This record gives sequence, C-alpha cells and structure tokens, in this order.
Amino acid sequence: MTTTSVKQRPSHVTEEWSGGNVVAVEHPLVLHHVTRLRDRETSPEEFRHLVHRLSVLLAYEATQDLPTDPHIVHTPLTNATGGRLRGRIGLVPILRAGLGMVDPILNLIPDAEVWHLGLYRDEETAQPVKYYSKLPPDRPVDVALIVDPMLATGGSIVSALAELNDWGVKRAKVLSIIASQEGITEVNRQCPDADIFVCAIDDELNAAKFIVPGLGDAGDRMFNTVQPQ
Ligand code: PRP
Repeated sequence: MTTTSVKQRPSHVTEEWSGGNVVAVEHPLVLHHVTRLRDRETSPEEFRHLVHRLSVLLAYEATQDLPTDPHIVHTPLTNATGGRLRGRIGLVPILRAGLGMVDPILNLIPDAEVWHLGLYRDEETAQPVKYYSKLPPDRPVDVALIVDPMLATGGSIVSALAELNDWGVKRAKVLSIIASQEGITEVNRQCPDADIFVCAIDDELNAAKFIVPGLGDAGDRMFNTVQPQ
C-alpha cells in the first residue's frame, strides 16, 4: 500500500524528534471508499459498511510495526515456525463514532482489549467534553490504537491521548478516516510522540469547526441521527 508520510516537526520541538509520524494512506480502495463516504446520498447502512472497510485498511497500515515473537505450530505434515503478536494491544474507540471502527479491527486483532472513552464536542465551544472513562489505575496496555473516524480540531484526540498517558500507555497510534490539516498540526504540537494514520487530509475547518469538504458528522450519519436543518 502506498502511503504519504507527512511528518511534521512542531515548531516548539527542538531536540531530535522520533515520534509523531503522520501517514496518509494512499490506495485506490481507500480513495474509492472515502469518496462514497463523503457523498451525502450515501445511506447510513452503506456508511457503516464503508467505515468497516476503511478501518481494516487503516489498521493494516497502522499495525505494520507491531512486535511478534516466534511461534512454532504443528501442521498436518511437520512443524512450521511462524510468529504471534507480542504484548497487550488496546483498542480505544471514542464514543460515539469510534464504535463503528471497533468490530472490523477486532476481527483483525481478536485478542485486543477494548477500552471505551466517551467524549463529545461542545457545539458552542468545539471543546471536548468527557462523559465516560473506565480506564483502570494500573497495568496499561503496551500499545493503544485510538479510533475515531474524524479528527477536526484535534481536541478530542488530544484529550484521549492525555487519558492514555495518565494510564501509563507508552505507545499510542491514532486511526482516523478524515482529518483536517489544522487538527493534525495541533495533535502533533500537543502530543508529538503519537503516530497518526488517516485516509484523507482536508485543508479547511469552517467557522463551526467542521472539516471541509469532510463528510458531515460521522456519528450522526453512522447511527442515522442526522437532524433536519
Ligand atoms: C466528532 C468526531 C470526533 C470529534 C472530532 O464527535 O467523531 O470525536 O467530533 O472533533 P475534534 O477533533 O474537533 O475534537 P462528536 O462530538 O460529533 O460526537 P459523536 O461521535 O457522539 O457524534
């Protein structure tokens, strides 16, 4: 899969900077499905299917560097040395829209632990508001995959990364389908060690802090709760 690494060095970081990779996955399937996802005529049912497909493609890319241990199995003929994933992997959906990315990634990583974070964006201030977190006080996962289809101002992702940091998580990756350039820059600035994987980066945020052209509100489109204007 072709990827574009658009790693950005935040201006305040002066030392050698090793984290904070930003990867925009470039692939005909990604382009095809993102385009359908953006289309306002796409039904909630198709929207959910598209989020599934794109989540698999994103997760494939984001998990390329997960460590494995050698593992021997007995085939019907002889022994074969393969590998199995090492360590505990946490899948962290941001409610609500992140829920749509959980099942497809759990299919790829069936032993992942799912830790939900409830955050919504205040409509007036565009600031994230926390309403659910049950992270335990200790035993952090070895790597966390935060999933949310949209990264707009980046406030929700920064808040989620702060919670994971408080839990003691050392490696966090963000998987979003659509991001704004401004939001990516902000996450990089505040959390320079987090890797970000996206399917598309849009140039603009409008006055209401919606991604333009974007796809509208992913949670509402996924769960068929779009309110008439
Ligand atoms: C949307 C989206 C992200 C957040 C992105 O959620 O799913 O969680 O906004 O915005 P930000 O980058 O500016 O923080 P929303 O608040 O609409 O909640 P929902 O998923 O329950 O619809």
